[in-house]
Amino acid sequence: MRSEGETMHVLVVDDEPSIRRLIEKELGGPRRRITAVGSAKEAQQIFSQETFDLVLLDMRLPDGNGLELLAQFQDLAPEVQVIILTGYGEVENAVQAMKLGAYDYIGKPYALERLDMVMEKAFQRTCLQRENRMLRHARSAQVTPNLVGHSSLLENIRFLIRKVAPAQVPVLITGESGTGKNVVARQIHELSDRRDQPLITKNCGTFQKDLLRSELFGYRKGAFTGANESYEGLLSIAHRGTMFLDEIGELSLEVQSALLRVLENKTFRRLGEKEEKRLDVRFICATNRNLQAEVEAGRFSEAMYHRLNVFNISMPPLRNRKDDIPALIEHFLGRLRPGERMARITDRALQCLMAYDWPGNIRELQNVLERGLILAEDDLITTRSLPQELTGQAVVETTVDRPFLPLKAVERQHILAVLQYVDGSRTRAAEILGIGRKTLYRKLQQLSLP
Ligand SMILES: Nc1ncnc2c1ncn2[C@@H]1O[C@H](COP(=O)(O)OP(=O)(O)OP(=O)(O)O)[C@@H](O)[C@H]1O
Ligand SMILES: [Mg+2]
Repeated sequence: MRSEGETMHVLVVDDEPSIRRLIEKELGGPRRRITAVGSAKEAQQIFSQETFDLVLLDMRLPDGNGLELLAQFQDLAPEVQVIILTGYGEVENAVQAMKLGAYDYIGKPYALERLDMVMEKAFQRTCLQRENRMLRHARSAQVTPNLVGHSSLLENIRFLIRKVAPAQVPVLITGESGTGKNVVARQIHELSDRRDQPLITKNCGTFQKDLLRSELFGYRKGAFTGANESYEGLLSIAHRGTMFLDEIGELSLEVQSALLRVLENKTFRRLGEKEEKRLDVRFICATNRNLQAEVEAGRFSEAMYHRLNVFNISMPPLRNRKDDIPALIEHFLGRLRPGERMARITDRALQCLMAYDWPGNIRELQNVLERGLILAEDDLITTRSLPQELTGQAVVETTVDRPFLPLKAVERQHILAVLQYVDGSRTRAAEILGIGRKTLYRKLQQLSLP
């Protein structure tokens, strides 16, 4: 929906100078930028160069037919709503135009008040259609997650985000998998003056790579076999907003060079189109690869790297900021089962979580807690609710309402711990346990251990 302070850009196509002036004067304003032209040729040209939200179109033009122009506009930008201006006795034409997808028609002489109202409504529809498109790509339903934690490393990240958000420069976010790069990208967008505009996220690693270029840049109907309809392209959808290119290290050199031109000239061209369009997009990129090394290996363009690396935010791995772990645990335990009684965690289990190295970083912590909640007894996460690699030398832990484990369970835990310690060597395990190998095998079978 239309947000406060958003400017509507309107193209008026009418060969009558007095009408163009009237509309500019009466309907223009601080929140409505009006561009008025007098011929089909001018209209085609400007429409392909600039991004409009709305068109007011006269049916009868000296150098062309309004219906044809309407079809062209819809081809180029189907979400932009067109209002038809008709002269006396042209209603039939207008009906035809409505069938072709025009938003509404207004007969001459224009009742400005009605025109004003129709324009507002049509603009809402343009915004809605853009938003629908955007939603399909942006998974915007999620609320912006907060960065939880107060370690000095994370405070520094917060500082960088606050500083860079209002600027227009590209941001490159690096860091291991699961460290929160996506969260940071979203925060930068939310703290920028583009927050009411789209944040379009594209993961460069997942989609079929040969389609990536047309997905980003869009195409004109007929630009290649299979292009049965025009497609606006993600860059165009991100116009005035932010484009987040995730896993930028996966981008092919060909698409990199096309994007480099966009970054340098602030224009882009859809496939099958001659005209360059202006583009106002802020770029944020993320990767867990070492781009410098990728450049040296010839897999990433050096020019592109320097363009993107204007401002780098390097996400610290969780193992370097373990002070954040308790706050993160509390955050996830509260979030994983909203509305329910908050689960607790024993000191022993917490010790295990603090001691672990977290190669998968925060995502791994989240997964471990999710699993822990399933295995928890009485909403209490103990070491037994944690995966083995975390508990290491399995600590036998007891819960409050069942203070002692059965002997079999202790035996099982102990054998498991020893086996883990000797990397699964049964001979050595038997030695440590002070029993014969055969006895160990028998016990393993009895306790249904591997
Ligand atoms: N500081 C944080 N506070 C709370 N949640 C966080 C924090 N950092 C990350 N998360 C959560 O951890 C998960 C992983 O984060 P995210 O997807 O941003 O990582 P990433 O660095 O983009 O990983 P990848 O390289 O695998 O794409 C997400 O669910 C995210 O919400
Ligand atoms: Mg990510």
